[in-house]
Amino acid sequence: MTDQQMIDEIHRLKNKKNAVILAHNYQIGPIQDIADYVGDSLGLSQVAASTSADIIIFCGVHFMAETASIISPNKKVLIPDTEAGCSLAASITADELKQWKSENPEAIVVSYVNTTAEVKALTDYCCTSSNAVKVVEAIPEGKDILFLPDRFLGSYVSAITGRDIKIWQGGCHVHEKIGEINFDDARAKHPKADFLIHPECGCSTSCLLKSTMYEACKNLKIFSTDGMLNYVKDAESKEFVVATEVGILHRMKKIKPASEFYPVSQDSVCEYMKMITVEKLYNSLLHDRYEVKVPEELAAKARLSIERMLEIT
Ligand code: 13P
Ligand code: SF4
Repeated sequence: MTDQQMIDEIHRLKNKKNAVILAHNYQIGPIQDIADYVGDSLGLSQVAASTSADIIIFCGVHFMAETASIISPNKKVLIPDTEAGCSLAASITADELKQWKSENPEAIVVSYVNTTAEVKALTDYCCTSSNAVKVVEAIPEGKDILFLPDRFLGSYVSAITGRDIKIWQGGCHVHEKIGEINFDDARAKHPKADFLIHPECGCSTSCLLKSTMYEACKNLKIFSTDGMLNYVKDAESKEFVVATEVGILHRMKKIKPASEFYPVSQDSVCEYMKMITVEKLYNSLLHDRYEVKVPEELAAKARLSIERMLEIT
């Protein structure tokens, strides 16, 4: 079967089965082009919560499909490759969180959506990179907050809100490496470019502090992946240096074909996100595989934290 025949079959099967294809902004271009909705973690959860489709095919990583199963328990949720994991979600286990909570019994737990269902079930509020600041601001002053698992997003939220937050020392293997890059070199190469930075990056906190201290670092924009895309839509600049996973450049180029987009590093590739291929998506739709189903007892506990997040945004 050629790629085009497979794509045609995907469209036919999707309509026949009343399925919706959701894809994260880091997916390969052909998957983004087939998907019904492409977005960031927050946007994808909102669509998963409101879709009228019978089947949700999640072209993303496992915790995203789990989140869809938690908020839409009556839908069949499929992921085309069960090996599509996430180093950040793996950086805290439910047992580690239980221990941390027992050391801080009065604290409110805020978990990034990049966590397992078991961790979400021990969480008070979920958040994503687009609403982490709002979620923390919604917690009354004076309450202890445990923020997990990403140390860079946690430091960023603490810097923006001015809140003293206890932060789990986890990280994403793709974004933390961006902190090793010399941004001054990138600025020298692209002096007119706007710098767009994901808050999971190792650099974001130091860059944020630097931006108030050093002229050289002004114009840094710290955004979720959809935040970056919204910025690009309305920006006057025609050049952008992008500090996140390179998959997002596909959508950026579609939005502004005449602009230049420079990844801060060509090596910022999430191998988990890239596991989803057109062939695997086709097989997933054809054979209804692989189902991600969070058991209802666990899902009920985890759902509360996601619903609280969705109410705040
Ligand atoms: P966004 O929510 O900004 O898309 O980031 C999520 C993420 O890092 C997935 O890897
Ligand atoms: Fe997880 Fe990092 Fe990949 Fe995002 S880029 S899915 S945080 S490993």
